[in-house]
Amino acid sequence: MAYREIIKIGDDLLRKQSKTVTTFDRKLSDLLDDMAESMFKFKGMGLAAPQIGILKRVVVMDVNGMFLEFINPEIVSSSGEVEEEEACLSVPNVRGIVKRPFKITVNAQDRFGNNFSITGEAMLARCICHEFDHLNGVLFVDKMEREVKGDK
Ligand code: NI
Repeated sequence: MAYREIIKIGDDLLRKQSKTVTTFDRKLSDLLDDMAESMFKFKGMGLAAPQIGILKRVVVMDVNGMFLEFINPEIVSSSGEVEEEEACLSVPNVRGIVKRPFKITVNAQDRFGNNFSITGEAMLARCICHEFDHLNGVLFVDKMEREVKGDK
């Protein structure tokens, strides 16, 4: 395992559509392991593959002490609406308020290609939406209602 550098806003790769994963092999497992290591090293709550320059529909997350991996994720339902603060490893020194659903249900595959479904609320739902946006070239600053200034 090795951590990878996180690419930052301004890099075109962050604006591209990521590709569906069709091969569930050792290379994918290595990518997931490297993404987890990078997320922990840089203290993110989540990381999407395009953030390390890999245009594949792969996301890792660490929310509420729960480590999650998503391959080819799709949001199948959502409800409610919450405004909360967000940040992103690819957008240094910016925090802002973004409107997201309160609750979402997602279908995805694990690293072996098995299908699974998960329902998340609050911070988990927010983090999922944020990371999945990366797979479509969308950054939270595109949706930000307003920036939050000052120290956290
Ligand atoms: Ni992000």
